[in-house]
Amino acid sequence: MARKKVLLSRIFPKLATQLLEKAGFEVKSWDKEHPMAYEELTKAAQDCDALFCTLTDKIDKAFLNSCSHLDIITQFAVGYDNIDIEEATKLEIPIGYAPNAMNEATADIAFGLMIATARKMFFMNQKIKNGEWGYFDPVGHLGLELKGKTVGILGLGRIGMAMAKRCKGAYDMEIIYHNRSSNPTAEKELGAKLVDFDTLISTSDVISVHCALTPETHGIFNKTVFDKMKSTALLINTARGAIHNEEDLINALKSKNIWGAGLDVTNPEPMKPNNPLLSMENVCVLPHIGSATINAREEMARMGATNIIDFYKEGKVPYIVNP
Ligand code: DGY
Repeated sequence: MARKKVLLSRIFPKLATQLLEKAGFEVKSWDKEHPMAYEELTKAAQDCDALFCTLTDKIDKAFLNSCSHLDIITQFAVGYDNIDIEEATKLEIPIGYAPNAMNEATADIAFGLMIATARKMFFMNQKIKNGEWGYFDPVGHLGLELKGKTVGILGLGRIGMAMAKRCKGAYDMEIIYHNRSSNPTAEKELGAKLVDFDTLISTSDVISVHCALTPETHGIFNKTVFDKMKSTALLINTARGAIHNEEDLINALKSKNIWGAGLDVTNPEPMKPNNPLLSMENVCVLPHIGSATINAREEMARMGATNIIDFYKEGKVPYIVNP
């Protein structure tokens, strides 16, 4: 087999390059911290056979058609809403991804954001940095307790399940969920109950979002939904920023229609430093670090490299979106 050339669109963990080179591939890697511009990526992919990309790369219809020579594209993420899967499938380009690698890491961030938001941790920390730590205040900045509350999981897949286990184990929370199909393991092990979307939003004390971004979930958390949520409810989103409508969220928080929000994802990313959400007392925002653990990122690198290696050596992509 002639030596195949793989383009890495970002600086990925070294393991990706090591595995690919060990298997005889030539690796061409982008070497800057920021993502490649769309045109740069299109140009760089011209003399490559395979692409290892991630959610900051727009792999749309035009890109795919100008790079239809690519044998395989693999995504350094579990989500792949940046890729036009339909078009890739039409062009017979297999799309790999990295499922399961970040279940625990992302659930830790969702769980952490839930507690941090309930107790206004980011805002209170900022007060110290601002030199505003006054005296112990018997009545100021009071938060919420989570024990025995109801958590509603939107998308009870692998990450949602890891979050539900944390909620059950730590706070004996009631678990309700809304999903395309029922999750018998969650029902048996955690007593989780499948409910319709309206029940989920109107009865949960905490809503934790773990679904994929699709046309159906795009902007699903909007004014209508915030109006139906409890005024004491928290929204935790570690999935994709476009699942909540930011303007409606800001208004819902300002008008106290909901109590707080913990976000690891925003729309757009990066969030601008003057975004009003960043100065709100009951809001905690993180810069999309759900999968940012050493273990998860190495596993994501391994899965992507394995997808490419196995595709050329064995004719199959082990972690594939469009089989
Ligand atoms: C994913 O995998 O989709 C996360 O958002 C980034 O790791």
